[in-house]
Amino acid sequence: MKPYLLQTLKEIAKLGAIKNKIEVSSEELAEKIETSQQTASRYLLELDKKGFITRKLGIKKQIIKITNIGEEFLKKEYIDYQRIFELSDKIFFKGKIVSGIGEGRYYTEQNGYIDQFKEKLGFIPYPGTLNVEIEYIEKNKLRLLKNHDTITIQEFKTKNRSFGGVSCFKAEINGTSGAIVLPLRSHYSNILEFISPDFLRQKLDLKDEDIVEIVIFLN
Ligand code: CDP
Repeated sequence: MKPYLLQTLKEIAKLGAIKNKIEVSSEELAEKIETSQQTASRYLLELDKKGFITRKLGIKKQIIKITNIGEEFLKKEYIDYQRIFELSDKIFFKGKIVSGIGEGRYYTEQNGYIDQFKEKLGFIPYPGTLNVEIEYIEKNKLRLLKNHDTITIQEFKTKNRSFGGVSCFKAEINGTSGAIVLPLRSHYSNILEFISPDFLRQKLDLKDEDIVEIVIFLN
């Protein structure tokens, strides 16, 4: 399938056209795929002719639904991505440094966590977590991480409260080693929390809004 058709089909799918008929104008679609209205209109015609979508033409808008053939194509693309990430042993993220609310320090200073970090990651973290905000779309990569073996830090209790388990991946931030910690229970957000034996803001001369590169090592 031609790349521009796949991209158009994907945008239509994101509007919900796999499960439901959706109403959309070629202008709206053109904006999403960054092309002219005439071009978007031609792509829709092509998708229709090839049997990837069905449509009913209105005056301004069209009613579109993705056919089974169209859905199969998107699934194939999805599986390709899964393979790409399953076969590679590294996942790359770009993100920007942000400040949290100072909770990282509180958690990383708990002995229940420190002992396990030392045993399972091989270092005692500098108190706190360096927060890196990733693009919303990159959360897809995080979802794929869920299927991988992780280094699991078990939950524990102190006499006052209990602390939840986290999963870790060895990682690097701008070439410096550490690990990413992800909560076991709650949903992944678009903030990656990085721990390291080093005070990273100082070592890497980082401040809020700086762009950094993170590599997560799988297996
Ligand atoms: O939640 P918040 O980011 O405000 O702070 P924290 O997790 O308590 O961490 C304290 C400070 O140290 C923050 O500015 C972190 O960005 C920073 N930090 C760092 O530079 N290197 C680390 N290995 C851990 C935290």
